[in-house]
Amino acid sequence: MPRIEEISAETLKEWERIAAHSHITGLGLDGLEPKEVGDGMIGQLEARKAAGIVVRLVKEGKFAGRAVLIAGPPGTGKTALAIGIAKELGRDVPFVPIAASEIFSAEIKKTEFLTQTLRKAIGVRIREMRKIYEGEVKELHIDKEPHPYNPYMQVPVRATVKLATKDESRRLTMDQSFALQLLQQGVEKGDIIQIDADGGRIIKIGRSYEVAEKMPELSSVQVVPTPDGPVLKDKEFVYTLTLHQLDVAHSRSGTSVLSLLFGGRERKEIEPEVRRNVDEMVKEWVEEGRAEIIPGVVFIDECSMLDIETFAFLNRAMEQELSPVIIFATNRGMAQIRGTDHVSPHALPLDLLDRMLIINTRPYTKNEIRNILEIRARAEKVELSEDALEYLTEVGERASLRYAIQLIAPAFELAKEMKSEEIKKEHVQEVERLFVDVQRSVRHLKEFEQRFLT
Ligand SMILES: Nc1ncnc2c1ncn2[C@@H]1O[C@H](COP(=O)(O)OP(=O)(O)OP(=O)(O)O)[C@@H](O)[C@H]1O
Ligand SMILES: [Mg+2]
Repeated sequence: MPRIEEISAETLKEWERIAAHSHITGLGLDGLEPKEVGDGMIGQLEARKAAGIVVRLVKEGKFAGRAVLIAGPPGTGKTALAIGIAKELGRDVPFVPIAASEIFSAEIKKTEFLTQTLRKAIGVRIREMRKIYEGEVKELHIDKEPHPYNPYMQVPVRATVKLATKDESRRLTMDQSFALQLLQQGVEKGDIIQIDADGGRIIKIGRSYEVAEKMPELSSVQVVPTPDGPVLKDKEFVYTLTLHQLDVAHSRSGTSVLSLLFGGRERKEIEPEVRRNVDEMVKEWVEEGRAEIIPGVVFIDECSMLDIETFAFLNRAMEQELSPVIIFATNRGMAQIRGTDHVSPHALPLDLLDRMLIINTRPYTKNEIRNILEIRARAEKVELSEDALEYLTEVGERASLRYAIQLIAPAFELAKEMKSEEIKKEHVQEVERLFVDVQRSVRHLKEFEQRFLT
């Protein structure tokens, strides 16, 4: 079995991209009915219910050849909803977010970029007998250092974990790729995890009973008993790789330092031969009962910027036997389809629109904004005073939810500077003055333009 890829610029980028949604663990449904608050999700009830129905269709195999379009104004939870769908499909279901503009900026061919994206969204769940460390996380420490080529970015370098079963405990020191996996999976004290040391993988199984009892409301994380026996044992280990990871592991690799230096995507074209071999191999595993295939989710943001060739490619991909669920998102209404002179709804070709279930998201109420901000503050491990939360909520209403969320981190820096444990209203007001929202910024420049004109 190949070892997982070393930590790469790409992995980090993907991790950052979903970090803003780390509080979302599902759609927060009770059957198909959305709870007012659940799995980190607030409000947006119709959209969540619709998303829940999509999840059912996918699980029942009735979604083949179709796609979802989430259309709504900026900051209304389109990305959040897509992540919720992926989480509902299963704990290890791949979620691959891309922005349409990336397709054009990638230094590889469009079709290669798209093929890689689709193959990243097909998981292969593998079962093997391994020597694994298993237990409840009693202590967790992740050392971070500046990125070797980008000192302004903190990256994990190593981790120490104390794992305990009912009978014994062990302290383990791990390298960077483990530390990153701990962060990616949001492992915390009180979680039950498995570590396959030789294979270089960590799996979060769930949360221990005792810890879950103390903090019941938090999320839908599975609650599991603390294992007994030794921490290190022979056990069936279940983990998921993607077709793309297998492709990369099977093609001659070698990352150039330059691509790391310049934040490169370090993407390479993969030989069709390699993909064929990987497909054959996976097929064998499946036939032998050692693996199963898990279709995941590709999320294409700003989809109104895709061009007609890309739509044709995706249309074909959706018809294939093995295809991930494709979720498109847009905040545009009528617009021209790129690469043509046709104007159409959401700038999407009609044949694609015909295959889509469209979900609308709507702006949040004041109360919903407050609740989302509260959840975000908790996810960022930051305390907000009552009046700071109130004020931030007003900012969210006045400017945008995005902007209000963005202010949490800088406000906390100010609070720390003032030796305050929590963010106070004055800290929010100060950062609001220092960092402007988009509308204010545009107005600012307009004023100057006018001054020059007169
Ligand atoms: N219903 C919700 N419940 C909880 N958190 C939410 C909800 N909707 C949005 N958020 C959070 O608010 C922030 C902004 O939402 P998100 O990025 O999903 O909006 P978007 O519609 O994708 O925006 P854009 O058009 O800018 O891409 C994110 O941090 C997201 O996780
Ligand atoms: Mg978004």
